[in-house]
Amino acid sequence: MGRFYEKIVRPGLFRLESERAHGWGVAAMTALGRCAPLCRALEAWHRLPAAARPIEAFGLRFPNAVGLAAGFDKHASAWPAAAALGFGHVEIGTVTALAQPGNPRPRMFRYPAHEAVINRMGFNNEGAEAVARRLARQPLPGRRRIPLGINLGKSKVADLDRAAEDYLASFRRLAEYADYLVLNVSSPNTPGLRRLQDEGQLRQLLAAIGGANRERAAMPGGRRVPLLLKIAPDLTFPQLDAVLGVVAEFALDGVIATNTTLARPGFFAGVREAGGLSGAPLRRRATEVVAYLARATGGRLPIIGVGGITDPAGAAEKLDAGAVLVQVYTGLVYRGPFFAAELARAVVDRQRPGYTG
Ligand SMILES: Cc1cc2nc3c(=O)[nH]c(=O)nc-3n(C[C@H](O)[C@H](O)[C@H](O)COP(=O)(O)O)c2cc1C
Repeated sequence: MGRFYEKIVRPGLFRLESERAHGWGVAAMTALGRCAPLCRALEAWHRLPAAARPIEAFGLRFPNAVGLAAGFDKHASAWPAAAALGFGHVEIGTVTALAQPGNPRPRMFRYPAHEAVINRMGFNNEGAEAVARRLARQPLPGRRRIPLGINLGKSKVADLDRAAEDYLASFRRLAEYADYLVLNVSSPNTPGLRRLQDEGQLRQLLAAIGGANRERAAMPGGRRVPLLLKIAPDLTFPQLDAVLGVVAEFALDGVIATNTTLARPGFFAGVREAGGLSGAPLRRRATEVVAYLARATGGRLPIIGVGGITDPAGAAEKLDAGAVLVQVYTGLVYRGPFFAAELARAVVDRQRPGYTG
């Protein structure tokens, strides 16, 4: 199936401008999601052998280790088909409190010889209200095939010192639809966003969201939503230590490592396109960050490893470095829609059943 995609489908898609091709992919997945019998058949076809026990992390159960990373399904339209494509979880967004158009196009660029992408999308999305309305018409928590994460970011117009309020507005509108929530403080395309990784700023943000989450849990029938933090690969080890200190202080449920990089290794040193680099050139650094976090926390903090997974060995490497789950985005562009199923099968013996964080 992967060869069919690479030989027949990909050349056609790659003739289209990147974001248009992406739009076709999202549209195809959305259409598939509306065809329940086909989804069930594909899901059964991709199911792992019965001996593969599900993975448990932050109170959720994942049928396999491979998830769809944030940024692919920004508007929450395609995710109902994710299980049919072999994913074990899916993360939508980034969603911001306010609808926003993102940066001018073109803003997504492929580098096929390097299996990489540079993007400067800038959180184009329909905003928390529109996304919440769409999620309300789709399967709700408890009735889903696989866990759904919602990735939250800061609206571009919100000042950095009011970021917590802005995230809080999205949290209040979307928490009820999330199996887990991600605070994205690491996209490189919203000016100043990464400064929320600084200890003081991060503390303010986590205090606000953590408090709101506790309030939710205390309401009749309320439920605390697992909260994860998505970080950049460009943090130094001392900066990672500082982030881990705040993560522990606020008892966050996990970390997603990593987002795209502003570094320009090797060939990319000569590439002038602004934005975050993903895919193969990110692989090594992302794994290094996962390994560092896993070592520093003695393996007790659930880590979702993401960055540059373009083959089964790449997924295995992240799990071996200490990740409990992995996610992919750029690999999907180069390997096609059934890439997740291929990865999940390949790493089945590396799953750590019964992982409790
Ligand atoms: C076009 C594009 C858009 C992205 N948008 C988001 C986003 O909105 N929020 C986010 O947290 N990460 C976003 N990402 C980052 C991915 O989720 C992932 O962390 C990163 O690309 C590294 O993984 P990969 O090498 O498998 O692509 C985006 C990545 C790409 C390529």
